[in-house]
Amino acid sequence: MGRFFIYRNNFEIISFCCILVLMNHEEIRKKFIEFFKKNGHESVPSSSLLPDDPSVLLTTAGMQQFKKYFTGELDPMQDFKSKNTVSIQKCFRTSDIDEVGDERHLTFFEMLGNFSFGGYWKEEAIKYAYEFIAKEMGLEIDYVTVFDPEKVSAGDWRRGVPYDEESYKIWQKYVPKEKIRREGADNFWGPTGNEGPCGPTTEIYVDGIEIWNVVFNQFYRDKENKLTDLKIRGIDTGMGLERLAMVSQKKKNVFETDLFESIVRELPEEMEFKTKLIFTDHARSSAFLISDGIRPSNKDAGYVLRRLLRRVITYNYIWLRSHPESKFSFRTLIDEVVSQYGYIYQNLNREIIAGVCEEEYVKFNRTIEKGLKELDVLMEVDAKKAFDLYQSFGLPYEVVKELAGSRASILNRDDFDKKFVKHQEISKAGAEKKFGGHGLLLDTGELKAKDEVELKKVTRLHTATHLLQAALRKVLGSEVSQKGSDVTAERTRFDFAFGRKLTPEEIKKVEELVNGAVEADLPMQFKEMSKVEAEKTGALYFFREKYPERVKVYFAGKSLEDAFSKEFCGGPHVTHTGEVGKFKIAKEEAVGAGARRIRGVVEN
Ligand code: ALA
Repeated sequence: MGRFFIYRNNFEIISFCCILVLMNHEEIRKKFIEFFKKNGHESVPSSSLLPDDPSVLLTTAGMQQFKKYFTGELDPMQDFKSKNTVSIQKCFRTSDIDEVGDERHLTFFEMLGNFSFGGYWKEEAIKYAYEFIAKEMGLEIDYVTVFDPEKVSAGDWRRGVPYDEESYKIWQKYVPKEKIRREGADNFWGPTGNEGPCGPTTEIYVDGIEIWNVVFNQFYRDKENKLTDLKIRGIDTGMGLERLAMVSQKKKNVFETDLFESIVRELPEEMEFKTKLIFTDHARSSAFLISDGIRPSNKDAGYVLRRLLRRVITYNYIWLRSHPESKFSFRTLIDEVVSQYGYIYQNLNREIIAGVCEEEYVKFNRTIEKGLKELDVLMEVDAKKAFDLYQSFGLPYEVVKELAGSRASILNRDDFDKKFVKHQEISKAGAEKKFGGHGLLLDTGELKAKDEVELKKVTRLHTATHLLQAALRKVLGSEVSQKGSDVTAERTRFDFAFGRKLTPEEIKKVEELVNGAVEADLPMQFKEMSKVEAEKTGALYFFREKYPERVKVYFAGKSLEDAFSKEFCGGPHVTHTGEVGKFKIAKEEAVGAGARRIRGVVEN
């Protein structure tokens, strides 16, 4: 239950003391939903962490499930009987994984948000935000920010966006002028690389941290950065429940709030603080990911989960090595997460979550054991040695760095990645040396050719394989993911995850889609970018760990955004899809449980 203490609000009436209730998370949740319901919003449950929208890996914001109401594709009146909604959304942000452990970052969090699709606008949105923070929560606003293009750095297209004077004026009704700060690019929400809806934002700061981001979806930005007013103006807001609980409960960090207290309590007291935070955060996020149907794998959301679990397993391993008597087990943390959240999110299932964690634990522990035997005898671990361990045992960089301790003080991520790239170049050069008629001209493991005639054919089949994967996903859904591929001058053999035999109609449809792309004679091009950027483009990849930090994304189409197919790939490919020739599926069969194999050929 909440405790009480006296709180001084020094803006409205200097000498007036009001009582701030330290609210627990249940009270905050209830207050938020009730406040917006009272103001004409329909309450909508959180959507899954695994979004319908294929352009994002995981749900990162409350607005995601409402995208089609913002664009006008769906009608909010029909679905919610209101143009305004309110939700508490489960969110996951992958960019923050490596930052967990610094007290402020979380991978999983819950986002409180109110939305309007062509209903109210800035006047009401700011009023609601102010009233909720100041009156309902009894918090003092440090300051707020509004968008000003003059604060945007030179050369940035956002310098051309109009100043959000409207928000500046509205805020003056609620806070003194000195508390309204004009900020630049951070106060503009929307696509940075592409065209799309966008607009200025206003942010609210309490106790020095940003707690609420209120976005005004006002413009459509085209390819030339020209802004036009949107037909349906939208309100999209996001406030982290954890941060709000932290300021409301007057805690130093989110892990001290009642959202985490019971989980943290299960950790051995003498455990290092940073390790505690990693366990706590990852227990929560893994439990939620697993409950939304994600399983550890080497790609997409499954890879994110695998990274979280393997990090936890590593720390668990390190802990038990130095504390053999300890009774600590990750399982107790999972139990606490389920006790804490089970009544809110009913799909949290103790047994399923624990089972998935256990399976990954057994698998990865074997790898750690083997690799560690090698690691233990090394006096010093540099990038080359770390890379050797990775190659031979699959020991990730993080594990080597962590377990070797001071023996790995010279090891850093950049050098490790460089080894990776170098290794790839050596393999390529090896293949080129074979040129001259002896041996193979090209052998990437996936592509093989002995002379230039074969090389041409293999290249055509290689591009056909990309078109095939894209077509399979269009016909059968995103469950299709590459499990293996092998291309010779005669055929492409493509293995993919899918649970049943394809019907003759589906096979025909896939062939038609591939041949449609061939007839369209799309340019086959690549862009080089960081792995993180490449993932954001939605490009497919096979086995994430095998790629270096900079990758090529090959795409069939005029632009990366509307490409027929896009994949991480080293090439080679044809220059235009027309060169592929007519494609045909020669055979479709099962290969192991839940996997199919297609043999495809192209006409000469
Ligand atoms: N969509 C906005 C955010 O995530 C509210 O901050």
